[in-house]
Amino acid sequence: MHKFEGKYAIATGGTDGITKESIICMARKGLSGAIIAGRNEERGIKAAEEIKKLTGCECYYVQTDVSKPEDIVNLFKVAKSKFPTIQILVNGAGVCPSMPIETIDAQEWDRVMNINLRSMHLCILEALKFMKPQKYGKIINVSSAAGRIGGTESSIAYSVSKGGMITATKCYAKAYGVYNINVNSICPGAIKTNMIADFTYANAPESLIKKIIPLGRLGKVEDCSGVIEFLASNDSDYITGCSIDVNGGVFMN
Ligand SMILES: NC(=O)c1ccc[n+]([C@@H]2O[C@H](COP(=O)([O-])OP(=O)(O)OC[C@H]3O[C@@H](n4cnc5c(N)ncnc54)[C@H](O)[C@@H]3O)[C@@H](O)[C@H]2O)c1
Repeated sequence: MHKFEGKYAIATGGTDGITKESIICMARKGLSGAIIAGRNEERGIKAAEEIKKLTGCECYYVQTDVSKPEDIVNLFKVAKSKFPTIQILVNGAGVCPSMPIETIDAQEWDRVMNINLRSMHLCILEALKFMKPQKYGKIINVSSAAGRIGGTESSIAYSVSKGGMITATKCYAKAYGVYNINVNSICPGAIKTNMIADFTYANAPESLIKKIIPLGRLGKVEDCSGVIEFLASNDSDYITGCSIDVNGGVFMN
C-alpha cells in the first residue's frame, strides 16, 4: 500500500490525461509529494487540489510552459523549495498537431520539437541534479506508438519527436545506469484523452475499432498509468532503456 512513501515526483503535463492519472496512481500508493506542471493555471490548480483530496498526497501545481527553458529551471527550483528531493520524473507534456507535411515550416517544426522532445532533455538535466548525488532516480518518458511506426502522414513532427524520445531513453539509460537511475519510456497507442478527442480514429465505429485493435477497444488513461507507476517503482529496478508498448496490440514490437 505504501510503495511510494518518502518518494517525490515531478510530472510535466501532469494536469491532464495519462500523466495526471499516473500521479494519482502513485499517490494512492503513498507518494509523499508531487508537482504537476502545465500551462493552464486554472486547470492546474484544480488538478492539484483533486489529487490532494483523492489521495492525501502533498501536490502542487507549477505554471510551466515546457517549451521555455527558464520555466523548466523554475519548476525544479520550486520543487527544491517544497520537497527534500525528487526521485521520480515523468515527462508527459506533449502536443500532437495534425498538419499536412508541406505546411510544416521551421517555426512549427521547432515548436513541436521544443515541447515534446527538448523539454524532456531539459527536465532530465535538472532532475539529474537531484538523482545523481542520491544515486537513485526513475525517469519515465511518455513517447508514442507513432514514434515506432511513423504515425499518420499529418503527424510527422509529432512522430519524429516521439521516435527521438525512444532513442534518447536508451542514451540516458546507458549514461546514468551507473548512478542507479532507470530511464524508460512508454509508447501508448490510441488512448481516450483530450489529445485525440477530434481524431478520426478516436471516433471510428466500434466495429472498425474491433477490427484494427486486437484487444478490441481504444485505451483508457488507466491502461497507461499502471505501467508508468510500475516504471516509477522498485518493481522495475532491473529495467532500463526500455520502451513499453501500451497499444492494445495494434503494433507488436
Ligand atoms: N492520447 C493518446 O492517444 C496518446 C498516444 C500516444 C502518446 N500520447 C502522449 O501522452 C502524453 C500525454 O498526453 P494525453 O493523451 O494525456 O493528452 P493531454 O492533452 O490530456 O495531455 C497533454 C498535456 O501536455 C500539456 N502540454 C502541452 N503543451 C505544453 C507546454 N508547452 N508546456 C506544458 N505543458 C504542455 C497539456 O496542457 C496537457 O496537460 C503526451 O506526451 C502524448 O503525446 C498520447
